[in-house]
Amino acid sequence: MRWGRLPAVAICLSVRRRSRMMMCVTDELLADQVAYYRQRAGEYDVTAYDDVAAARGRIARLVAQMQPTGSVLEMACGTGLWTQALARFADTVTAVDAAVEAVAIARDRVRSDNVMFEVADVFSWASEERFDVIFFSAWLSHVPTSRFEQFWQLLRPRLANGGRVLFIDEHVDVRDKEAYVPGQDEIVERQLRDGRQFRIVKNFVDPKRLEQQLRALGWHCEIRRDGSDWIRGQARPAL
Ligand SMILES: C[S@@+](CC[C@H](N)C(=O)[O-])C[C@H]1O[C@@H](n2cnc3c(N)ncnc32)[C@H](O)[C@@H]1O
Repeated sequence: MRWGRLPAVAICLSVRRRSRMMMCVTDELLADQVAYYRQRAGEYDVTAYDDVAAARGRIARLVAQMQPTGSVLEMACGTGLWTQALARFADTVTAVDAAVEAVAIARDRVRSDNVMFEVADVFSWASEERFDVIFFSAWLSHVPTSRFEQFWQLLRPRLANGGRVLFIDEHVDVRDKEAYVPGQDEIVERQLRDGRQFRIVKNFVDPKRLEQQLRALGWHCEIRRDGSDWIRGQARPAL
């Protein structure tokens, strides 16, 4: 049957069913994304950063530029390379990630008294505490468009008065390095060293677009480029 011949109610049901399927795919995909990072934990540092020693230098420089002082919440901390640098500036760091294997590496790496790790999903992680800084590196690009607004809404009540959100991510100019699933503009295929394949979300940052999106949600945001591949951003709730 052609679309033009469907009665209106059938079209509506069909569209609704399609959008339910999209939501369902997204939820499954987010679970798959965590599974991917759990399996990747042991190879993450080398495959993500290539030259880990050089990356440590870059991380130290960027963290020093951002000055994350006071109480810091780090979301999606991964194997703790950034946590280690944050701990040198912060009074306390609460570092959260859903991948238990990554957190185990991070715990082993960062043995500072002012750092506490938790294995949790950032979309549902609950805390009464308010933080001076909420930080995330290479996380925002894994938040699907459908959860973007929800994610920024959940940050706001966790920020102390005068608090800042600081983030690092990849610039849209390096988008070509990913293998996008045909017909999908935010889902990519990734492969582990043993050949296993996963699908995850990847939304590279277009600074102007992200600044506009955040302004529409009530945030003041400034994004700067760092080299040809990364961006560094700071956002504060607009008064
Ligand atoms: C690209 S890695 C970034 C790790 C670290 N921040 C870095 O920059 O090296 C993305 C991280 O997000 C974590 N992650 C994925 N989905 C998550 C979720 N729903 N809740 C918490 N962490 C999640 C993964 O386990 C992984 O450690």
